Amino acid sequence: MKQLHKQSSMNHRRDEETPSTQTPPYSPKSLKHPKSIPRSINYLFKEQRLLFILIGILIGSTFFILQPSLSRLGPTDAHSPIRRSFSKDNTVSSGVSVFSDNHDSSASFSSGTNRAVYGKVGRVPVGIGRRRMRVVVTGGAGFVGSHLVDKLIARGDEVIVLDNFFTGRKDNLVHLFGNPMFELIRHDVVEPILLEVDQIYHLACPASPVHYKYNPVKTIKTNVMGTLNMLGLAKRVGARFLLTSTSEVYGDPLQHPQKETYWGNVNPIGKVASATTIICFGCLFSYSCRLLLSFGLIWLGERSCYDEGKRTAETLAMDYHRGAGVEVRIARIFNTYGPRMCLDDGRVVSNFVAQAIRKLPMTVYGDGKQTRSFQYVSDLVDGLVALMDGEHIGPFNLGNPGEFTMLELSEVVKETIDPSATVEFRPNTADDPHMRKPDISKAKELLNWEPKISLREGLPLMVGDFRQRILNEDEGKGA
Ligand SMILES: NC(=O)c1ccc[n+]([C@@H]2O[C@H](COP(=O)([O-])OP(=O)(O)OC[C@H]3O[C@@H](n4cnc5c(N)ncnc54)[C@H](O)[C@@H]3O)[C@@H](O)[C@H]2O)c1
Repeated sequence: MKQLHKQSSMNHRRDEETPSTQTPPYSPKSLKHPKSIPRSINYLFKEQRLLFILIGILIGSTFFILQPSLSRLGPTDAHSPIRRSFSKDNTVSSGVSVFSDNHDSSASFSSGTNRAVYGKVGRVPVGIGRRRMRVVVTGGAGFVGSHLVDKLIARGDEVIVLDNFFTGRKDNLVHLFGNPMFELIRHDVVEPILLEVDQIYHLACPASPVHYKYNPVKTIKTNVMGTLNMLGLAKRVGARFLLTSTSEVYGDPLQHPQKETYWGNVNPIGKVASATTIICFGCLFSYSCRLLLSFGLIWLGERSCYDEGKRTAETLAMDYHRGAGVEVRIARIFNTYGPRMCLDDGRVVSNFVAQAIRKLPMTVYGDGKQTRSFQYVSDLVDGLVALMDGEHIGPFNLGNPGEFTMLELSEVVKETIDPSATVEFRPNTADDPHMRKPDISKAKELLNWEPKISLREGLPLMVGDFRQRILNEDEGKGA
């Protein structure tokens, strides 16, 4: 009985304790014990834990504060590889792959070129520094486009190239194959495409007379429909759009040097042969000529498909800007040269260089007194990027104001390649402008840009690439 009583009194005591020890009913937010806060503070103060935490925070913040300025000092500055390469051996082939065409050595990620190119991407911690852009380059397999792509990849952008390979070559980009930051899509810009991107560099268009006159209707389609499609894409995804227009919009200029305010002197229809000439040619030559005769006119191969195509492209860009709020940039490019130019595209620098290497006479059209200015490709690429990243729409002339007659150019080529090279005169082509020289004061002032490489410095930089390709061609022919 006594025992029973003891048991019941124990049970009673346990029941009394129950409210404090029983598990409370489930609640998603468990109540924190008020005692746990002072306990965690105690925990922090014990064994100098707080001190170690503070030291950790200090080291972390010092690294993140110093890191951007350290990376600016590093070799991955977009300009530094070029400068280094000049000082080293006066060739660009050992610099960044932009100006190198030694594809074999640059094809693997372990090459010096690619170490420079990918170094920056590796060093910048995720989320720190400049935001990585996703950029489309139309015509990126061409001469200028491929150098631009190299520069964008080198600074850490993701690049998608759209190209139909009309004049572009995979060889120009082969060193980037396998790079996760790079994509190449075979695409004709005359067709629409949808991509999520931040910037669009629109270069797709044959640039040399030989190529753009080959199919004038296609050239103007590329300029009009291609530009419309890319502007449509820019509008849809809110991307910034840069058009590579041309000094050809000034036509055969009546103002010299040409400022951006000059509206140009372009012949929109090209030259039309007279009826008598038509009959003569129609009778003598082919069926197609006689067919054209039935329309009463014969159109000689002219440059208006290109000139007017680019002028229309500029108009479209400005209309999309004013009407649809698209952020546009317009560059008017003057004659540019460098490695990866097509060997036989009829452009004067590539013509002279290829002819001098092949020991052929350099072809001078007309009296050779017409002038041009020649810009090295790295200068142009720097200008395009400055324009895209800047706040000004343009148009901006991007060219080298150093002016040379064709005969003077042939002299520089002789000095650089072969002192025994000769020239051969031929009748001039239709509508060939007499003078071309950019006024670049607007770009100097607003983009803080001007070309740095003179013709005498730049020409030797393309000779190695031309020699190599001509040699490969000859070997291919079994020579
Ligand atoms: N190089 C110069 O001196 C110069 C001067 C003035 C303007 N530009 C302009 O700069 C741009 C690039 O010129 P470049 O010298 O590199 O010429 P390029 O011929 O080497 O390159 C043009 C690229 O566009 C591609 N392309 C052509 N039509 C296309 C289409 N319908 N769809 C997709 N891709 C197409 C070609 O395959 C090529 O890869 C052109 O827009 C040109 O008008 C160049």
